[in-house]
Amino acid sequence: MADTWEKLKAECAACAACPLAQTRTNLVFGVGREDAEILFIGEGPGEQEDLQGEPFVGPAGKLLDTMLAIIGLDRSKVYIINMVKCRPPRNRDPQEDEIAACAPWLQRQIALVDPKLIVCLGRVAAKGLIDPEFRITRQHGQWYRCGDRPIMATYHPSALLRDPSKRPEAFMDLRELRKEIRAVCERTELYDDTL
Ligand code: URA
Repeated sequence: MADTWEKLKAECAACAACPLAQTRTNLVFGVGREDAEILFIGEGPGEQEDLQGEPFVGPAGKLLDTMLAIIGLDRSKVYIINMVKCRPPRNRDPQEDEIAACAPWLQRQIALVDPKLIVCLGRVAAKGLIDPEFRITRQHGQWYRCGDRPIMATYHPSALLRDPSKRPEAFMDLRELRKEIRAVCERTELYDDTL
């Protein structure tokens, strides 16, 4: 039987496949347009996301909203998920076994959204979806393939909050993203060239 969002959400809400399920307040499923042409993938929920059940609602989320707005995007035009759906304690990186336990949900979400392109927010998503040896400082802003879809990674907004000197590079990544959106997306409206 074909997968549906309803089925996926119900099954995912009951997930206890890794120890993160025991310490979560809320499972953080995803937010945005379920048939978006652009899919953003972060790392894992932080404190605010765990409390509110929505990805990127804390300080990093505010910066992500600004990054989206720079090229005329917002949460209603894209879909946003994380590599893991439950908060890792004290915001540590999700571990490989936790990412592996969550991967079937992620893969079903990717299949249901069926995006035209994917953007990894930071190293953890890039290592999981592009290359286990991915080096964000060297490889951000370049296009790779995830199955038959273009995929790129840019700096995680939290990294840009910690080190604002990386922001000009992230800005260039956004320009690159906008170019690719114009090339492969049909339904996603962007601002005119202002960058
Ligand atoms: N960082 C992430 O990677 N994801 C979130 O949802 C929040 C912060």
